Amino acid sequence: EPEGLLKAFQKRIDNEEKIEPRDWMPEAYRKTLIRQMSQHAHSEIVGQLPEGNWITRAPTLKRKMILLAKVQDEAGHGLYIYSATETLGITREEMTRQLLSGEAKYSSIFNYPTPSWADMGAIGWLVDGAAIMNQVPLCRASYGPYARSMIRICKEESFHQRQGYDIMTTLARGSNAQKKMAQDALNRFWWPALMMFGPSDKDSKHSVQSMQWKIKRFSNDDLRQKFVDVTVPQAEHLGLTIPDEDLKWNEERGHYDFGEIDWDEFINVIKGNGPCNKERLRARQKAHDEGEWVRKAAEVYQQNQRDAA
Ligand code: ACO
Repeated sequence: EPEGLLKAFQKRIDNEEKIEPRDWMPEAYRKTLIRQMSQHAHSEIVGQLPEGNWITRAPTLKRKMILLAKVQDEAGHGLYIYSATETLGITREEMTRQLLSGEAKYSSIFNYPTPSWADMGAIGWLVDGAAIMNQVPLCRASYGPYARSMIRICKEESFHQRQGYDIMTTLARGSNAQKKMAQDALNRFWWPALMMFGPSDKDSKHSVQSMQWKIKRFSNDDLRQKFVDVTVPQAEHLGLTIPDEDLKWNEERGHYDFGEIDWDEFINVIKGNGPCNKERLRARQKAHDEGEWVRKAAEVYQQNQRDAA
């Protein structure tokens, strides 16, 4: 790629100009965005599964309506981001193929099981909380369609986070058995939520370039630290204990110190060997197969419209 074009491109980024689909961009920039955005879209879609597990069993009608709406929001997020990714020249079909073949990643967090109702609280509070921490800066990503899709997504995520915290509050103020459920969900989701931010900065192979391109605005470790700092007081308010003996306020740094993440577990989950990876892909494959008639019908309809025109 010509040096002059690359320089002019970086200058636009440095000036905080948005890059739009028809603008010239380095192939590596396009590739990185397709990778990150498609992985993000897949995460939203697969992310429906752990919570979908509880729609028929939510404890009250109100909780059921809220959960149903939230899971539908996730589907919508997936669709906005798939559409935004298509502007980079990849088709939805190809992205779906990559997901179902296991070629494309999706967030590690969605490979953990949800055996208890309290997990709906922990997911909203911690998983959506972590998602917001990561996604608010993406509203300022240099690629216009990605940044714009994030604005609405973040608003909806913040509703999701609050509904999760509301479930946790109800349980934490409830009977001993309910408190125990809430604590157990926190114990299981805490470390996987910290893993959502990705490998530590020294092991993050894409961060330096993505930050130079202003796709990412903060490093994985910086966002993880921010998340810990805001979440610890929330756990205290609930009267729950974060399962980390090394967690301690560090006056000098002005941040919480926390224990080492089990990176072997993280690597194992992203390699496809987490507790639910196979089940998740099987569920997506089944949905894809069962949706074939819808895709066919849409194609025929489109053809008829074209013929009529
Ligand atoms: N789960 C699965 N894979 C991950 C995770 C994770 N939690 N974190 C990092 N990875 C993968 C990266 O995709 C990359 O793999 P690849 O090269 O095969 O694509 C590899 O691990 C190395 O990581 P990094 O170099 O740090 O990758 P990157 O710069 O893309 O940073 C991050 C990872 C922070 C997840 C980034 O891609 C991002 O911000 N994505 C958008 C947000 C998103 O996807 N959120 C989904 C969960 S939130 C939700 O859906 C509710």
